[in-house]
Amino acid sequence: MSQQPDPTTVSAGSGTVPNAEQADAWDGDDGRHWVTHRQRYDTMLRRLTPHLLDAAAVTAAERVLDIGCGSGETTCAVARAARHGLTLGVDLSGALLDEARDRAIHEGLHNVAFEQGDAQLHPFPAESHDVAMSRFGVMFFDDPTAAFANIARALRPGGRLAFLCWQDVGRNEWIATIGSALAAAVELPAMGGDGPGPFSLADPRSIRELLDDTGFVDASIAPLVEPMRFGEDVDDVIGFVRDISLVRTLLSDADEETTTKASDAMRTALAPHQSADGILLGGATWLVTANRR
Ligand SMILES: C[S@@+](CC[C@H](N)C(=O)[O-])C[C@H]1O[C@@H](n2cnc3c(N)ncnc32)[C@H](O)[C@@H]1O
Repeated sequence: MSQQPDPTTVSAGSGTVPNAEQADAWDGDDGRHWVTHRQRYDTMLRRLTPHLLDAAAVTAAERVLDIGCGSGETTCAVARAARHGLTLGVDLSGALLDEARDRAIHEGLHNVAFEQGDAQLHPFPAESHDVAMSRFGVMFFDDPTAAFANIARALRPGGRLAFLCWQDVGRNEWIATIGSALAAAVELPAMGGDGPGPFSLADPRSIRELLDDTGFVDASIAPLVEPMRFGEDVDDVIGFVRDISLVRTLLSDADEETTTKASDAMRTALAPHQSADGILLGGATWLVTANRR
């Protein structure tokens, strides 16, 4: 990590470094999972990504920050748009950043850099960016107010913010379908609610309050629903789901009967979603834009 933890936030032996759990996960097993399935994730999100890029509306000379950039698909896309500018991708995961750097080299991009760090704490130079954006990388902060304030500080006055985050579990066909199938076999932890996680910004009132509190104005929070291609067929998707860290952990101690029950329930739940283009499940998101005051 390029960013040292702030010693004032570390209490001896109690593990209270900000985002320590997320850093362990993303710089560990979750990162490995996303590296393995990076093409699948890019394909899954291919109908959502253009909406984000349109909303970010990056122009040729702008300085862009991609928060939680992962393997860098969006980072490279905005770097191509900001061909005379500079793009910085920041992420907790060293393995995903290696993929992102390879992608940028492969695309011959010289105006893009990647740094391993925590966007909640990272000492971005003040007002150093025109645009901050994220594709599902801003829901994992244990202190969202500190994180969004830090992102606001990195933007010039009038700079733009654009990001995608998930609406709640019940509105998301993908997690409702996969989650209820798994729940037929194993006990799942609660998916929404407080604390960092994919659904932490599901409530648009909380998003608006967060933006108001952290120096953003003119917020727009628009629903955006698109089909997402999870894989070729049922078996392909089951293999993928079973490689998600949480699912691997849940099934690691399970007996054969439970494992078979989980696979059978997923097979039944996924089969109706087979299309000529593979298994499609709906993704319900918020497309959020705002300006730095
Ligand atoms: C759901 S993935 C999305 C990755 C990428 N934006 C994409 O769409 O392919 C979330 C990403 O956010 C990163 N992340 C989570 N918390 C972060 C933090 N506090 N600072 C920087 N990156 C973070 C993770 O490491 C992970 O790569």
